[in-house]
Amino acid sequence: MKIAAGSDHAGLALKRQLLERLRAQGHEVNDLGTHDTQSCDYPDYAALVARAVAAGEAERGLLVCGTGQGMAMAANRVPGVRAAVCADTFTAKATRAHNDANVLCIGERVVGPGLAGDIVDAFVSGPYEGGRHANRVAKVAALERR
Ligand code: RB5
Repeated sequence: MKIAAGSDHAGLALKRQLLERLRAQGHEVNDLGTHDTQSCDYPDYAALVARAVAAGEAERGLLVCGTGQGMAMAANRVPGVRAAVCADTFTAKATRAHNDANVLCIGERVVGPGLAGDIVDAFVSGPYEGGRHANRVAKVAALERR
């Protein structure tokens, strides 16, 4: 699977660990930055990843900052993006199944590396159920047009 990834300085270390994991699993990962520990602004990287997903250049996005929250707020401003903050595997699985989430946001200051790996696995492998959820996801998309 093609995955676009990004972080700010607060999410850099966890992003690197997660990308190593994803690459070892055979995924094609495009790291859009940041690439060093200098303080930077999370919306810049949320925009890069969100636009890559919205344009179909990547099937999923992964964003890591201190909490995951700012990344999700910024990414969800891009039409076509459904970004979800996950701090547990149940939510990661459910947001794929019910919301067809396409961008996963994680907080390095919230989630330890072991759990974060499990969350990413659940998100990447989790199928969207469609069915009764499709109309609801369509209603979310309609909000972008109003
Ligand atoms: C950076 O200090 C921090 O504010 C950022 O990584 C993120 O947690 C914002 O949502």
